[in-house]
Amino acid sequence: MVKREELWITSKLWNSAHAPEDVKPAIEKTLNDLQLNYLDLYLMHWPVALKKGALLPQSGQDFVPIDDLPVSETWMAMEELVGNGLCRHIGVCNFSIPKLQSLIEDARTKPEMNQIELHPYLQQTEMLDFCQNNEIHLTAYSPLGSPDRPERLKVKDEPILIADSTISSIAERHNVNPAQVLISWAIHRGTSLIPKSVNPKRLKQNLEAAELTLNEGDMQEIKKLDKRRRYIGGGLWAMEGSPYSVSGLWGE
Ligand code: A2P
Repeated sequence: MVKREELWITSKLWNSAHAPEDVKPAIEKTLNDLQLNYLDLYLMHWPVALKKGALLPQSGQDFVPIDDLPVSETWMAMEELVGNGLCRHIGVCNFSIPKLQSLIEDARTKPEMNQIELHPYLQQTEMLDFCQNNEIHLTAYSPLGSPDRPERLKVKDEPILIADSTISSIAERHNVNPAQVLISWAIHRGTSLIPKSVNPKRLKQNLEAAELTLNEGDMQEIKKLDKRRRYIGGGLWAMEGSPYSVSGLWGE
C-alpha cells in the first residue's frame, strides 16, 4: 500500500479560473475529483486568462486581457492556498523571463517552479540561468519532443527530436535508447522532467534513465543541437481577436 506522503501530486489552475474568487473553488474541485486533502504542487497553467466557463477559446471574445486580470492577482489567490493547507507549493508554467521578473516584483512569495517546454532543440539556457539565480526550479515538459501531440500542432517536415542522429549515436555508445539520453540530459542540467508514456515497458526504461551518466563530450555534442524549436507554440492563445500574441507570450 502506497502512502500519500510517498507520492508527489501536481495539478494546474486552468485559464478560465484566473479570477481571484475562482482559484480556491478550482483547487477544491481538483482535490475532490482526485479524492485528496492536499496537492504537493499547484501551477498556473498559462499566463493567459479566459472568461469563466470558456474551457477552450472559440473566438477572441473568450479571452480576458491580462491587464484586466493580471497574473499577480491570480497569484495572490494561489498564495492563500498554501496558507489554507490545500497545497504545499505553488508555481507557474509557460512563464517567460520578463513575466517571472514582474511576478517576483509583485509577489509576497516567488514561484517555486516554472514548468516549460525544454529539450535539446529548445534548450532555453538563459531561462535556466535566470531560474538557478532566483532559486526557481524548472520542470521540462515535452522532454522527448512530444511526438504524440495532436496532428494540428505538427508541421510538415519538422525535426523529430527522438530520431535525431546525434542523440541516437550517443545512445548507441552508452547502449541505451534515445529517450533515455534525452531524460538523462535533462537531469544533468538540474531540471525535473515529465516524460509521458502509457506503455509500462517504456515507463520502466524512462525511470532507469536516471542511472545513465552522460560525459562532458556528450553534453557538448547535445549543446550544439539547440534550434530554439518549440513543439508547443501557444498559437491557440493568439487566435484572431485575442489580446495575446505568441511573441508576447514567450517574451521573444
Ligand atoms: P508511449 O506513450 O506510447 O510510450 P513527451 O513526454 O515529450 O510529451 O513525449 C511523449 C511521447 O513519447 C509519447 O508518444 C510516448 O509514447 C513517447 N515515449 C515515451 N517514452 C518513450 C521511450 N522510452 N521511447 C520512445 N518513445 C517514448
